[in-house]
Amino acid sequence: MSRITVVGAGKYGSTTVQRLAEWDVVDEVVMTDIVEGLPQGLALDMNQSRPVTGHRTIVIGTNDYADTAQSDVVIITAGLPRKPGMSRMDLLEVNATIVVRYSPNAVIIVVTNPLDQMTTLAANVSGFPRQRVFGQAGILDSSRFAHFISEKTGADIQAVEAVTLGSHGDTMVPVPSLCRVEGKPLAEVLDPGTIDDLVDRTRKGGAEIVAYLKTGSAYYAPSAAAAYMAKAVIQDSGEQMPVCAWMTGEYGIEDVYLGVIAEVGTGGVKSVVELPLTDEEQTGLAEAAAAVKEKVADLENIDI
Ligand code: APR
Repeated sequence: MSRITVVGAGKYGSTTVQRLAEWDVVDEVVMTDIVEGLPQGLALDMNQSRPVTGHRTIVIGTNDYADTAQSDVVIITAGLPRKPGMSRMDLLEVNATIVVRYSPNAVIIVVTNPLDQMTTLAANVSGFPRQRVFGQAGILDSSRFAHFISEKTGADIQAVEAVTLGSHGDTMVPVPSLCRVEGKPLAEVLDPGTIDDLVDRTRKGGAEIVAYLKTGSAYYAPSAAAAYMAKAVIQDSGEQMPVCAWMTGEYGIEDVYLGVIAEVGTGGVKSVVELPLTDEEQTGLAEAAAAVKEKVADLENIDI
């Protein structure tokens, strides 16, 4: 019996649940939220789609954390709204504490921004081994980058490999040297100016969508990324993918959560994979690590 819990039944949480259910990779997906009726209603609706889509996974909507007990994976998406005076940090602290009580062996996947700090906080509060707590950002950034490359070159999306490391946002480190289009290095397909433009658009990928939506933020690509990570854990795929993982000396960086390529499976991050980087990319990664460390040091004072 396998179970994934998604905390937060907003746009991000509910689309993650829907994807996981439709992929049919787990027996149960539990969706919790503080809003009464919301997870129950969404779950009922999703379960009624099963005869059409053909999947078997059951979705359980609940406001009671007891229903999340013995989850193999817990994805934390709970964001706004919060009680007045309650920061996102407080919110995650409460959630992580409760989750730990009911699912002491779970892998925690954090998606709530600011991602690096939130992942650090979840690890601190849960007391879990750091390999069992990691964050989602790199798959999203890489797939945004891949989409832009595919759009610009006309190449099939499945023939584009894009890699981003670092942090989510300004200190994201795109790695053009490892990007391929139909097997060819990106630099042979696009000129440097165009690559820079696509990198810049990727860095601001979330803001571009928020500007269109006016309220709320992106959730289709983010939920695809979060669900993909949970699937890798459940299936113990060992697949290499970009995640926000705890560094223990790889690339000369340690004691910080950073976006890197890691092998993901049962137990979360199995190992961080060190890629051959150019000097410039290596410097960018070190700078991103320093920036995250600075933000994390400020963790106690942040109220976002
Ligand atoms: N426990 C469970 N659910 C909670 C809690 C809590 N303590 N606090 C808030 N929630 C729920 C809200 O009731 C809401 O349904 O979390 C949900 C958040 O949903 P949205 O506001 O729609 O946000 P969403 O688009 O899903 O994004 C979630 O992901 O993109 C990141 O950091 C961003 O905060 C955002 C998060």
